[in-house]
Amino acid sequence: MTTHDGAPILPGATIGILGGGQLGRMTAMAARSMGYDVHVLDPDPDCSAKPVASRVVTARFDDPSAAIDLAKGCDVVTLEIEQIAPTVMEAVAQHAPLRPGAAPIWIIQDRVRQKDWLAEHAFPVGEFRHAESADDVKAAVQALGACIVKAAHGGYDGRGQAHVTQAADAAKAWEAVGARRSVVEQRLDLALEFSVLVARRADGQMAVYPPARNHHSSGVLAWSVLPADVPKEVARTGAEIALGIAEGLEIVGLLAVELFVTTDGRVLVNELAPRPHNTYHASERACATSQFEQLVRAVCGLPLGAPTLVSAGAIANLLGDLWLADAPPDVAGALDVATARVHLYGKRSAREGRKMGHLSAIGQSGPEALGRALDAYDAFRPGACPAIERPRG
Ligand SMILES: Nc1ncnc2c1ncn2[C@@H]1O[C@H](COP(=O)(O)OP(=O)(O)O)[C@@H](O)[C@H]1O
Ligand SMILES: [Mg+2]
Repeated sequence: MTTHDGAPILPGATIGILGGGQLGRMTAMAARSMGYDVHVLDPDPDCSAKPVASRVVTARFDDPSAAIDLAKGCDVVTLEIEQIAPTVMEAVAQHAPLRPGAAPIWIIQDRVRQKDWLAEHAFPVGEFRHAESADDVKAAVQALGACIVKAAHGGYDGRGQAHVTQAADAAKAWEAVGARRSVVEQRLDLALEFSVLVARRADGQMAVYPPARNHHSSGVLAWSVLPADVPKEVARTGAEIALGIAEGLEIVGLLAVELFVTTDGRVLVNELAPRPHNTYHASERACATSQFEQLVRAVCGLPLGAPTLVSAGAIANLLGDLWLADAPPDVAGALDVATARVHLYGKRSAREGRKMGHLSAIGQSGPEALGRALDAYDAFRPGACPAIERPRG
């Protein structure tokens, strides 16, 4: 079923997705809207994408024979998670085009390789060191001051990370990340966080989305708004960086670049994601082409859609905490807020910090859209959960 580069993979074909979480589910919904069939591979037989996929291969992301089973039934395979074993990527690529390919995924899936690649290619990053021991962490803190230790593999939503402010606590931080190979980053004073999403086709054609402004709470995205209220120069720099990285890594599909603006005015790359991204969920409503449809177009070799804004849009994440509170969430209350929509991922069990869904809203301006999304969030949480912070100013 291998398709030659260049010939578009048209509706009626089957798209495989490695990973059946919410990103896979929303990609699958976009693919279904366009007339594609969707197969997914996920360790959880009841994964979020299951109701949308005609086939779920239940397997871990390090099982090459399951990956071959998936790929044999697909015309193209993409992914919603970067923690895919190289043996699986190789196995897939022998039976169907894997987009993005194994080379950029291998770089991005390891924080050490990713940071090195960015630095070697002269993209701006904060100061960092490698750590293979508690002593390395100590030396980094002595050189850089307060730091964040991030395990090379397996961290997400702030997991696999430990803050360390003094050299004496280096061993504790090293243990906290599981005594694993890590990057140690200087802790930066952030003025704000934003992201830029780029889509790229195999022939090099690219489309860049307007920047999204993001707010994290305890290392997890709380809300995001499109467009970001950043100076034009910052937006331009972010777009240039994101396009440069997508080109340099020869991404086929999507690349989300998380960026920092520091209090001293520097624009720095935080990290990369070669897939749809939580900070662009508002693109479903705010942009001419959602990130999910754009991924389908890019991996199928179809013309990229316009990434332009048709409205301002915002989202607020719904974490499992909201379902664990005293009162159940008030879905109807949230839907009563102007332009609000509720997006739930069909996850059966709520856990603290688990992403269960998000709320979205649109408006004439970013602040209006975000205000509505946060009003919907306040309406959704009648229980004891703390509210998420609103933007300052
Ligand atoms: N070097 C840093 N300095 C200051 N804050 C940071 C730094 N690295 C990460 N953070 C904060 O932690 C959040 C999560 O870190 P990140 O590296 O993006 O991990 P994850 O993969 O969990 O998203 C960031 O969005 C930012 O708010
Ligand atoms: Mg991040």
